[in-house]
Amino acid sequence: MIKKIAPSLLAADFANLQRDIEMVNQSEADWFHLDIMDGVFVPNISFGMPVVKAISNHAKKILDVHLMIVDPDRYIQTFAELCASFLTVHYEACNHLHRTVQAIKSSGMQAGVALNPHTSVQLLESIIQEIDLVCVMSVNPGFGGQSFIENTYQKVADLRELIEKKNATTLIEIDGGVSSANARKLITAGADVLVAGSFVFGSDDPITTIQNLKKEIA
Ligand code: DX5
Ligand code: ZN
Repeated sequence: MIKKIAPSLLAADFANLQRDIEMVNQSEADWFHLDIMDGVFVPNISFGMPVVKAISNHAKKILDVHLMIVDPDRYIQTFAELCASFLTVHYEACNHLHRTVQAIKSSGMQAGVALNPHTSVQLLESIIQEIDLVCVMSVNPGFGGQSFIENTYQKVADLRELIEKKNATTLIEIDGGVSSANARKLITAGADVLVAGSFVFGSDDPITTIQNLKKEIA
């Protein structure tokens, strides 16, 4: 499978959002990563539906939505209507994860489950075959620009082993602190999709930064 880069718009310039969306459209990036935070599940609020709608109107690539919210079932239908391709909920925010995953898939989206840094990949053993994507958080969710947690490599390797053991086709996505310093090593450990926020949008030439990241993980 071709390895993917998903720039996180959390690090975009919101006063020039259309410009930054067009940059991603024109780049070698594969997906748009959208971080939705509610100020309850995580100690930060990002943006809501009107902004997602505006992004959806301009984005020409897959929308990968990462919900950092409590009780995510309330918004599954809304994100389906906003043309999300992947909808990822947090393991830690779902009392009935199996039901939530089925509801996402019934709405026509691919279902993702995100794991906080302290959450073991083994907790997905009974449900991994139902999940289209696991988002391994390599920082504590809530903010861009944090340092990458080194233990992530081992988690990715363990998750890859679990996916293979269960004959699943689940994608492994890494989110937080991704840069050229860890991209290749994450892919070698078993990752499929790398989310990158501040490394892309904080660089002088985001198009070239994305191009270089793609080369490193090819
Ligand atoms: C963190 C978000 C990430 C964030 C990544 O809670 O889920 O997607 O935007 O940003 P960087 O790449 O700056 O760590
Ligand atoms: Zn994210």
